[in-house]
Amino acid sequence: MKRPSPVQLVCVTVLSAASCFAQSGAVSPADLKAAEKPSSDSTWWKHAVVYEIYPRSFQDSNGDGVGDLNGITQRLDYLKDLGVDAIWIAPMYPSPQVDFGYDISDYENVDPQYGTLADMDRLIAEAKKRNIRVCLDMVLNHTSDKHAWFQQSASSRTDPKHDWYVWNEGKLATGPGATPYEKRFAHDGKVPINDWESGFGGSAWQWTPATEQFYYHKFYREQPDLNWRNPAVEKAMFASMQFWLDRGVAGFRLDAIPTLFEDPQLRDEPEAGGVNAQGDPNLKDVYTSNLPEVHGVIRRMRTMVSKYPGDRVLIGETYLPNTLELDKWYGSADKNELQLPMDMLVGFQGNHAKLDATKLRQYLVEVETQVHGSQPLLVFDNHDNVRSHDRYGDGEHDAAIDRLIAALLLTSRATALMYYGEELGMPTTIPTRVEDVKDPIGITGWPKEKGRDGERTPMQWDATTPQAGFSTNAKTWLPVPASYATINVKAEQSDPQSLLNWHKKLISMRRSLPALHDGGLVMVDTDNPDVLSFVRTAPAGAKPVLVCLNMSASPKTLHLDLSAAAVKGVEIRTLLTNDATLTPVHSVKDVTMPAYGSYIGELQ
Ligand code: NOJ
Repeated sequence: MKRPSPVQLVCVTVLSAASCFAQSGAVSPADLKAAEKPSSDSTWWKHAVVYEIYPRSFQDSNGDGVGDLNGITQRLDYLKDLGVDAIWIAPMYPSPQVDFGYDISDYENVDPQYGTLADMDRLIAEAKKRNIRVCLDMVLNHTSDKHAWFQQSASSRTDPKHDWYVWNEGKLATGPGATPYEKRFAHDGKVPINDWESGFGGSAWQWTPATEQFYYHKFYREQPDLNWRNPAVEKAMFASMQFWLDRGVAGFRLDAIPTLFEDPQLRDEPEAGGVNAQGDPNLKDVYTSNLPEVHGVIRRMRTMVSKYPGDRVLIGETYLPNTLELDKWYGSADKNELQLPMDMLVGFQGNHAKLDATKLRQYLVEVETQVHGSQPLLVFDNHDNVRSHDRYGDGEHDAAIDRLIAALLLTSRATALMYYGEELGMPTTIPTRVEDVKDPIGITGWPKEKGRDGERTPMQWDATTPQAGFSTNAKTWLPVPASYATINVKAEQSDPQSLLNWHKKLISMRRSLPALHDGGLVMVDTDNPDVLSFVRTAPAGAKPVLVCLNMSASPKTLHLDLSAAAVKGVEIRTLLTNDATLTPVHSVKDVTMPAYGSYIGELQ
């Protein structure tokens, strides 16, 4: 199942697919050596499995067909059993729900449909009892247009909050600079000042009669961008973050963080050729994303968050062109910005729909060696993209491919970010009729862009009712996919060979085996175009672990030379494999990987 996804949407609009995933610089031998060594750093987020919960879709506790906070609390034992260290809850703040919570109207409360502040406090406390930390989503780039700040800002040019958002008078529709595209957005004889586009379609400028100005919105028009050049905005937003830190949250996932600043000269963005699913010209978003000014904000934020005890963490939604750019989000050598900007290159492979061992090896080596020894964060699934099950599945080897992705995510040295249902192999279920679509981009973009409903369907807990244990309401906010009958938690818990149990084993090994917990990483068999193999080197007294992942549809016999990992012997003990033919393997000289096979063994 393939469709243009918001990743493409963002990259094509924002950077163009080619530049978005351009090759990055060389690897230095010194950095390579450092990455190969085991570490003894026990900081929690360096070893964590973080699990993203889309609150509308996880568990409905009050029968209204929409998930809620008490529902999450009810399912904490499941998460504990899976082995999750932290959850990230997508926005649960009061919101008109135009962008399902990413349009926040009050940063210091809970939307009544998700519960109350007391429910959140209870969730944090119950999670803590199970050693699960709670991270929230923090949307700093924009608010809802219903937020009191914007209501004030849009009321008049002289309002004290006017400058909290990005306003511009536009230019004359009859003037020489007005392009036919800009004229489509004319109001009162004015057109937007430049060609900037909303990532969700149309001009990024919206006319407001009360001020006779346009305001800028990178996303929906109901999501006006805050003006981060105004220090009052930073002060207010940091105060809201502190409100939650004081309540015990373990950190934040920072939404769309590269888009905080725009070019002060408001220059037109260059065209990248072609049009996107919404019918707008593709632009390279060089003037509306990844501007250097953002790093000052992040450094001050890191200082603020670091004052709290317990290693609170800043996770970034960082779709970036290459690993060298990613390094800047860590703060490069100073390491004073985000602890965990997401590496979207590995998990989304530049939107290549096929697993590619050579490309993955390159990206993995880069994130081990080009980020000044900072901690990588890998992610294959989220609420904005067709699930990896469908992106990488070929219809024939899907079960093996799901296991391979999980093995890669959970055996590399990176912190792992999972998305609810990924552990079950929940498929993407895209609406078949435009009248069923809930995500606005799926309505405006239909049929080229069908929106993100497909990856947001209710969690499949059991097969006892047509609501799959998600809700008692016959009508759930998005329909429960028919796949619930076989793909659900209950069925997979009782099947030792299930994908759920595969994840549990991997997470438990990652915790208990010193090489997987603390080991360095050395790529081996590096010319192999089909099979990605690496050794997790072992701390003193422990044994190294070999991981081999066949990313091709045919069997491959390996000729492994592990000398790069300083492994002399050939003897190995199988720890986990998805294919019974590999279970008896006891020598690295004797490994034939089946199609999309995964093999993990302890070197003796
Ligand atoms: C990224 C979020 O993941 C996405 O769901 C949202 O629509 C945009 N940012 C805007 O907040």
